Amino acid sequence: MTDMIFLGIESSCDDTAAAVVTGNRRILSSVVSSQTALHADFGGVVPEIAARAHAERLDLAVEQALAEAGLGLGALSGIAVTAGPGLIGGVMAGVMCAKGIAAGTGLPLVGVNHLAGHALTPRLTDGVDFPYLMLLVSGGHCQFLRVDGPDAFTRLGGTIDDAPGEAFDKLAKLLALPQPGGPHVEAEAAQGDPKRFPLPRPLLDRPGCDMSFSGLKTAALRQRDALIAEHGGLQAQDRRDLCAAFQSAVAEVLAEKSRRALAASPVPLLAVAGGVAANGLIRAALEQVAAEAGARFLAPPLRLCTDNGAMIAWAGIERFRLGHRDGMELAARPRWPL
Ligand code: KG4
Ligand code: ZN
Repeated sequence: MTDMIFLGIESSCDDTAAAVVTGNRRILSSVVSSQTALHADFGGVVPEIAARAHAERLDLAVEQALAEAGLGLGALSGIAVTAGPGLIGGVMAGVMCAKGIAAGTGLPLVGVNHLAGHALTPRLTDGVDFPYLMLLVSGGHCQFLRVDGPDAFTRLGGTIDDAPGEAFDKLAKLLALPQPGGPHVEAEAAQGDPKRFPLPRPLLDRPGCDMSFSGLKTAALRQRDALIAEHGGLQAQDRRDLCAAFQSAVAEVLAEKSRRALAASPVPLLAVAGGVAANGLIRAALEQVAAEAGARFLAPPLRLCTDNGAMIAWAGIERFRLGHRDGMELAARPRWPL
């Protein structure tokens, strides 16, 4: 039997992505065009600029993904596209692009929830079985999902304010480090003392798996201002120690909440996705929590942990196998809880 081949299209935030993936988990191509440079001067993603860039780049990303896979549209079995949640202009650009290809070729169209794309990635990369627990930690997302099937997700908790990546980025801004801040904070923290400044561990005193990171950022801001008031400026070591304190607070909160999630919902695997999963200390903390609970720990390769088209193609294949099809009425949804 010839295997299924899907094109996946992703444009819900600031990455324009297209990929070609097969039903037996082979990624034939994965093109990601980042808009980071376009938004760099604005301190965040500007929705209007993002939508425009997606509209300009989607066709090229699709063309490149097909060329790298060495396939024409005729070889495809279907088209999957992120239909939300995300910045509405970008999602609409992706959905319009996918509909255009579907209309022109007669191929089936499958709308995918972006969060489902992240949550199903361990099935693409490692072929894992259900159920498992997914901790999604990026610049825009932070939640625990119990995954029982391609279409069966239970949210066990999540942030009530900022996502952890956003908090890392804000801390970097406070300390005049470059954006995106996570990797720079981690590099500074490597030479810092995590115990010099006592930062809070938000919501650890409350039961459940909800998290909060904005208070942590405010506490770091106060500490920074106190240092500046005392010494007239920040020393290099102050910056390192503050980064180390912040990183260990985030790691501790994520670890403890993961421990609770695994206790509430014992499953054989804890998987992680999102850019924050690149952080070595956080990874190590989660790995230890999984081991204590007798679960396996899995962090897919970073290029598949962050936004990409391959996860959307794969989620489309999983949905297609369940019989899901969308028509030209497929709508772009800015909000779409799983
Ligand atoms: O999944 P992702 O690429 O995209 C979106 O959320 O859109 O995640 C990006 C986030 C940024 O906030 C970045 O600062 C954070 O992931 N990040 C990190 C690290 N690398 C990236 N945070 C902490 N430590 C890192 N090493
Ligand atoms: Zn994402």
